[in-house]
Amino acid sequence: MRGRINPRCNSPALGILLPSGDAGHKISFVQTLGLTRAGVRARDLSGMRNTITVMNAKGGVGKSTLVLTLAETLSADHGKRVLVIDSDAHASVSNMLVAPGWVEAIQGQGRTVVDYLIAVVLKAAPASWGTFLAKSVSDVDDARTIDLLLGGGHLTLFEREVSRGGHEVRLRHTIRTFLAEVRKAYDFVLIDSAPGLSVLTECWLREADFYIAPTKPDYISTHGLQFLRQFRQRDADMGFAEPLGVVINMKDRDSTEDERFDRWLRLSAGNRCFGQAIPRSYALQTAAHYSPRARSYWAKYPGQTGQTLRLLTAEVIERVARSQAPTTSADVEKKGVQAFVRIDKAGG
Ligand SMILES: Nc1ncnc2c1ncn2[C@@H]1O[C@H](COP(=O)(O)OP(=O)(O)OP(=O)(O)O)[C@@H](O)[C@H]1O
Ligand SMILES: [Mg+2]
Repeated sequence: MRGRINPRCNSPALGILLPSGDAGHKISFVQTLGLTRAGVRARDLSGMRNTITVMNAKGGVGKSTLVLTLAETLSADHGKRVLVIDSDAHASVSNMLVAPGWVEAIQGQGRTVVDYLIAVVLKAAPASWGTFLAKSVSDVDDARTIDLLLGGGHLTLFEREVSRGGHEVRLRHTIRTFLAEVRKAYDFVLIDSAPGLSVLTECWLREADFYIAPTKPDYISTHGLQFLRQFRQRDADMGFAEPLGVVINMKDRDSTEDERFDRWLRLSAGNRCFGQAIPRSYALQTAAHYSPRARSYWAKYPGQTGQTLRLLTAEVIERVARSQAPTTSADVEKKGVQAFVRIDKAGG
């Protein structure tokens, strides 16, 4: 478990990563990202907003566990079609959803999200994300509608190649196109991010519809939230996922200190804390271990833990539904113009 804030935050905002003075590139960036007025309208007004990245710059706060439990509750309890994208080189959520032998086999076959991105971004090869899917994953027998794009250890190398070759714009375009496609194929798309702020994590944060930030009720974890908020405000006009809310995780029922942090987090309206705080529980600690024998949802998440997860998931569904309020054409046009102006300034 990584228990520190990863300082890999020095990548400039992707929107301003254009080679300076290259007018041709400037124009093609605008075109490829669909940021012309018409392009933005077509993108923003089509389909549900249902892509959620789970992020806190701090490690070990329960990002992967939250992705796992949301996916399984959405599937088992609501029959939702869920795609989980494992965007962490440690492939934590992949190992939670798939038997270890299979994880290695799929990684060996080059069918991870990293291999998909290598094909499209670095090799400019035609690749279909559907062929990289592990279908109907999870050890919960009543959660049969979860597909997974596995993570791979070569993610870090991939990101290095992206930065070295100046492919950030192509990466962001790829993520945008990819999310537009999966948005239509699934009810919910959950992205498990690595801690820190890598070039890929920044793409998910800028291109997903929402982000949820889990935190432990302690000083360092909440500092990770603050870091994320500051980053969001830095180049706000370049697009950023809408904050869906903060989930307080691993709250010890008997700790007055945890209770104090819980109250303090809820005092700030900007956090939009979810009503349910997830308790520290043995069931959640062991949920990370894939069971070779399928089990029921209630066997995996018994008692209070299961109740809390169900209420939290219902709250997520409700907030997403509430945030579907149609974007007006005026809003969309404004966003398109802002992005255009920003890009123009960056290049010129
Ligand atoms: N509510 C909880 N109760 C008890 N243990 C938990 C709870 N949530 C998560 N854990 C455990 O805490 C550890 C960290 O959780 P997890 O791996 O989900 O965090 P993470 O933020 O994804 O970490 P990383 O930053 O390394 O990716 C894991 O061992 C997990 O099983
Ligand atoms: Mg994780």
